[in-house]
Amino acid sequence: MIHRPLPSSQLHYADPALNDEAQTLPIQPFVDRVHFPTLGCPALLGPGNPLKVVVSLPEGEPPGAVSLTLVDRHGGTGDVSLPVTGEPVSLGVGPLGKAGKRVLWQLVADVSAATPRLYDLAVRTAAGPETQANAVRVYAEITGKEKVVFCGDPQYHLENAHCLERFVERMNARDDIAWIALIGDVCDNAVRDEMNLLRLAWGAKPGPVHSYYEGDFPAAARRLAKLNKPILLMVGNHDGMVAYDDYAEGEPTTAYLGPDPKNKVAYDGLHHFRRTFGPLYFSVDWANTRYLCTNTFELDRHQRMGYHAIVANWGGWMRAEQTAWLGEELSDADARGMHKVVFMHHDPRGGSEGHNLGYYKDYRPYTYSSTADIAVAYLRYVGHVFFTRERWQQEWMKWPAQPLDEHPVRGVLSSLLEHRVWAVVMGHDNENWVETYSEGDGVFSVKPVRADYPLKPASADEAGAQVDAGTVQDVCDLLEERQVGEVVKLLEGRPPEEAQAVIQKAIARLDAQGAFKPKVAFAPADVKAWGLEAKATIHFTHVDDVGAYKHSKESDFDAYGYVVAQLEEGRPVSIQRFDLHHEKAGPRVDLAPE
Ligand SMILES: [Fe+2]
Repeated sequence: MIHRPLPSSQLHYADPALNDEAQTLPIQPFVDRVHFPTLGCPALLGPGNPLKVVVSLPEGEPPGAVSLTLVDRHGGTGDVSLPVTGEPVSLGVGPLGKAGKRVLWQLVADVSAATPRLYDLAVRTAAGPETQANAVRVYAEITGKEKVVFCGDPQYHLENAHCLERFVERMNARDDIAWIALIGDVCDNAVRDEMNLLRLAWGAKPGPVHSYYEGDFPAAARRLAKLNKPILLMVGNHDGMVAYDDYAEGEPTTAYLGPDPKNKVAYDGLHHFRRTFGPLYFSVDWANTRYLCTNTFELDRHQRMGYHAIVANWGGWMRAEQTAWLGEELSDADARGMHKVVFMHHDPRGGSEGHNLGYYKDYRPYTYSSTADIAVAYLRYVGHVFFTRERWQQEWMKWPAQPLDEHPVRGVLSSLLEHRVWAVVMGHDNENWVETYSEGDGVFSVKPVRADYPLKPASADEAGAQVDAGTVQDVCDLLEERQVGEVVKLLEGRPPEEAQAVIQKAIARLDAQGAFKPKVAFAPADVKAWGLEAKATIHFTHVDDVGAYKHSKESDFDAYGYVVAQLEEGRPVSIQRFDLHHEKAGPRVDLAPE
């Protein structure tokens, strides 16, 4: 329907001065002149809605010379040249870059001549053409009763490309989906598997920086452009990792994006994300519902730093400018009598699925000497999920010295409740569940979880590969001593499935022995004292991943899937999981007022 204007803090988001020129490794820009609409932030237009295009032009270049065309790549009735109505409006001048300054302009175009369908947007400027794939969807009608898809976490990398390809294939085969929302972790940045994490942890040292993002973001974009439906793309922690030159540990600063006054930035995943897909946060109105597409990985850049995927902090954070925008958007939706749904990669309640609610993880510094601890901590999370379905995960961060009472997430949660948000839909945990809170319920209380779990194995015996008990014990001993290099030497050369199974069993055994027990500081009493209670029914919902680590055989697709949401007045009133193997449907979970 009507796309909301870009947030003021997001206007110049793709300017090269704030991205490519602020880091030493190259970025292949997919988003340059066209800041809206884009592949990841498309315009969803109902009958009579004009198309508002935001273009970035060199200072002095007249906006009147810009031409707009809807490109009919998906086989309809042909391209449509769009008449621009009214005068272009300046949205402001951007920062000074190597090629001077850019000016943002908003052009309004009439799309009434376009047959309802999905289009690329081709924009021709004096500097040349730019095409945004799948950026405009014109609908014959928007009833608010459509079906849409929620999903997350493809964690795209070269070796799991077939996961994203499978998802695209399945989406394209369905004709009942109006649009898709993918809630973060589009790219992986080299987690890949357990052995790779240990290899990275072992090898962390100064040296020339290699960025997986350089290859993965363009490749993921090309695959997503094959969708025949529009997709809203959000940021996850895997999309926003950072390395300084030489993988240096760097000077702490509060720099977030763009130039860094103290450190030489080799890459920042958030630069890649916004130059590939579009803005880092935005909102979309659909029928009588406003969808807030947020960025919950807004840690200072120094906190997002690491050695490839060996980062110390991967939980959520939101900065003041975004939380202010969120509050304004929610207030505006209230004034219009709209429902509100918020997409967030991370759960702002700290824990998830009733576990560790109120667990806000202290930031920890990244150092070369800490990489073994970081890798083992992450493996522990992976092992826990795989074997016990217990949750331990960095969902949201806190500053170590900050009293929990002053944590800014308290304001975020309070805002969601005060504005009577209908649902918070999240990724990050790779499974499906819903916790519904009714008026008066504390949102840190454990509620019955309504869910359809995609995870398969429930015990170590089901891990698949046969492993030697002695080797598992050796790996236990080495991991306990953080001798990750010795683990790599011991397992290198074995089939990947066997190495993975040994590590998983060792982690599960160490967990069962309580070897990692002191690591989690869970503070339910403190957060309950916040007194945050639902003012109306609110659904905290996690949705499935479309592919991550275990992707070696066809049956692995049982564990990957997506959720189809049935809308009413534009908001989800039921969700149902479909796997990516046989397209098997899980039970339907109703999201009803209680
Ligand atoms: Fe994540």
